Amino acid sequence: MSVEAVRVSPAWLDLRERADAAARARELIGLLRRRRPSGGPWVIHDLGCGSGAMGRWLAPLLPGPQRWILHDRDADLLALAAADVPGPAGDGTAVAVETRRSDITRLGQGDLAGATLITASALLDLLTGDELAVLVRACAGAGCPVLFTLSVTGHVRLAPLDRLDARVAAAFDAHQRRETPRGPLLGPDAVEFAVGRFRRLGAEVIVRPSPWRLGGAEAGLAADWLAGWVGAACEHDPGLAVDAALYRRRRLREAGAGRLAVTVDHTDLLVLP
Ligand SMILES: C[S@@+](CC[C@H](N)C(=O)[O-])C[C@H]1O[C@@H](n2cnc3c(N)ncnc32)[C@H](O)[C@@H]1O
Repeated sequence: MSVEAVRVSPAWLDLRERADAAARARELIGLLRRRRPSGGPWVIHDLGCGSGAMGRWLAPLLPGPQRWILHDRDADLLALAAADVPGPAGDGTAVAVETRRSDITRLGQGDLAGATLITASALLDLLTGDELAVLVRACAGAGCPVLFTLSVTGHVRLAPLDRLDARVAAAFDAHQRRETPRGPLLGPDAVEFAVGRFRRLGAEVIVRPSPWRLGGAEAGLAADWLAGWVGAACEHDPGLAVDAALYRRRRLREAGAGRLAVTVDHTDLLVLP
């Protein structure tokens, strides 16, 4: 199986759901509420929905009836999303949900027809430039607001500092930009790419930070994130392996003792047509 086809584990999505909810930029939702559709429900397409965390976070923040269409290519994650649906809406209205197994890099405008909002979370870095360009065009063609949350930017800060931080970070970012049969992934360049493409199409794009701040209360997530971060760095730079094994032990010991603070920067985008 090629690296980019690796599936996202439900356990990882569960672990990060609370930190994701705390990190997303709430002020963008205030702007979104003003775009409440008149004369009909919200029709919200969530792209790369995973186990459905975006809907569980956003549905109660939006007033009025909502119909969510959850897209993912992974049938097992869609089944989890269908079993743990969002809602009710902010004003108590029920929320309707359907799932669609689809490749969101191949959406045509017909697939998003009638949308009043398109969302995605933690998705953009997994795409190539060609794929994101197609996705941006499909979203812009729908003529509704687009909310893309929690896109990684490549900036990570750990406290206390360690001499290996910068080397691991650079190798991780290179791994995110790795070559795949579909082309090189955008990784931390995805936000700038998406903003540029939407603006070129004449849309207004509002950009806000949405960092994870993982302290002692999120030690479990910090430890899992760290293991994945170091593992991906070593995959890119096998010469790191020996130093990285020691680094990982040091960092996990600090995380376990509640002495490690990790900030992982993300960016949220609200696109207004
Ligand atoms: C990091 S997870 C984020 C899941 C969810 N949005 C969340 O925030 O918890 C990325 C999701 O995108 C899905 N995905 C990635 N590429 C996709 C594609 N081309 N078409 C459909 N789904 C895709 C994966 O299956 C996975 O569920």
